[in-house]
Amino acid sequence: MDSTGVVYIGEGGLGVGQRTPKADRWYLQPPGMSDSASHVFVLTFEDEQIKGKCIRLDQTLADDFSLNARKIGTTQAFVVTGDPQYLAENSKVPTKLDPYSEEANSRFIELIKKFPGQAIPKNIGGGKVSTNLLGVLVTGDLIDSADKSGKNYPAMQSFEWSRYQSDYGLTGKDGKIPFPVYEVHGNHDGPQGNTFIVKDIIKRNRSRPGITNLSENGLHYSWDWGPLHLVNLGMFVGAGSNRRDQFHYAPMGSLDFLISDLKEKVGDSGRPVVLSFHLHPNGPAYDWPPQDLKLFWQSIKKFNVIALFHGHTHGSPPSRIQWNQEKFGVAVDGGLDVFNPDDSGAAKTNPNDSKNPLGVRHGFLYVELTDRPGTKRDQLIVRSIYTKDNWATHKWGETWTKNISIPKR
Ligand SMILES: [Fe+2]
Repeated sequence: MDSTGVVYIGEGGLGVGQRTPKADRWYLQPPGMSDSASHVFVLTFEDEQIKGKCIRLDQTLADDFSLNARKIGTTQAFVVTGDPQYLAENSKVPTKLDPYSEEANSRFIELIKKFPGQAIPKNIGGGKVSTNLLGVLVTGDLIDSADKSGKNYPAMQSFEWSRYQSDYGLTGKDGKIPFPVYEVHGNHDGPQGNTFIVKDIIKRNRSRPGITNLSENGLHYSWDWGPLHLVNLGMFVGAGSNRRDQFHYAPMGSLDFLISDLKEKVGDSGRPVVLSFHLHPNGPAYDWPPQDLKLFWQSIKKFNVIALFHGHTHGSPPSRIQWNQEKFGVAVDGGLDVFNPDDSGAAKTNPNDSKNPLGVRHGFLYVELTDRPGTKRDQLIVRSIYTKDNWATHKWGETWTKNISIPKR
């Protein structure tokens, strides 16, 4: 009858004398049913539903039904990506991107457009990518040339930035990406926070969907997706506005904003928090000053920070490490999860070998936060997608799952 076989036939089984059902009972009214005949049920379990058939001994069908899976939790789903690093051709009047930058970024945008609803392979959990993606976080180095000056660079910067904006858009309705965009600036966008790119990010923040808090200088911001609080912190988290001696980059007031934002928007609620910035906190001391790293830890240690996302390293494929103030490592006692989404498009022509482009490995992360009734079964699931051939092909990579706590609201 069914090639997958019979798992179990309930007690009583077949061959027992039949009784006449009391068909007036409320639970036997349609869509319920009753019958006085020996029968078996064939149940087929699918991802989103159970299909059932009730078959009599003479193999006629007594009933045929399907039941949808109950939705017992709510999920916030979004994408984290970094370093598209749009690079224009080196020309006084650029009209196109470097061919490999073009290939990587246009393929990535197409992939992201088609990403909602994609099947997730069964061996990493199955199901589908949400068709309600809330947004994409972009962890900096949006373009390549804004850390350079003179020569053709001003023209290249303008061309690159206009391509970033027309490809990514801002609101999910004004670019090619069909959901809102939440970027930070990286060292290639303005190492000291004083370029027109950074000024434009400040402008974009004023109409970025859902923003509930902005720093005094307008650059750093936070917002909420369901129970989750997210804070975007620019290049890195550090004290003061300007670059200090011995160090590379301007913090642009990110530490002050983080401290006041967590106090005002999270307080002692226990809400889960996600923080994003460009530099990797396990990088060299001249990039992320150790004193700032210490202050960063102190400012977040009492909060329910479930993930940190950075860019900058391009390290392929996407990866996760942990940090517990004392050290970084693959697994560290009491450590926070630090995710590197890889870069999404930082490919370019190799000046020494035009046939072998640089940086054609890329990746990004797909993140789901599931809030289930009660507080014990809430989860953060982060999955990676990666390519080795400039997004000609791609694969699902790792899945990092952890139980988290989401307080009742
Ligand atoms: Fe960078």
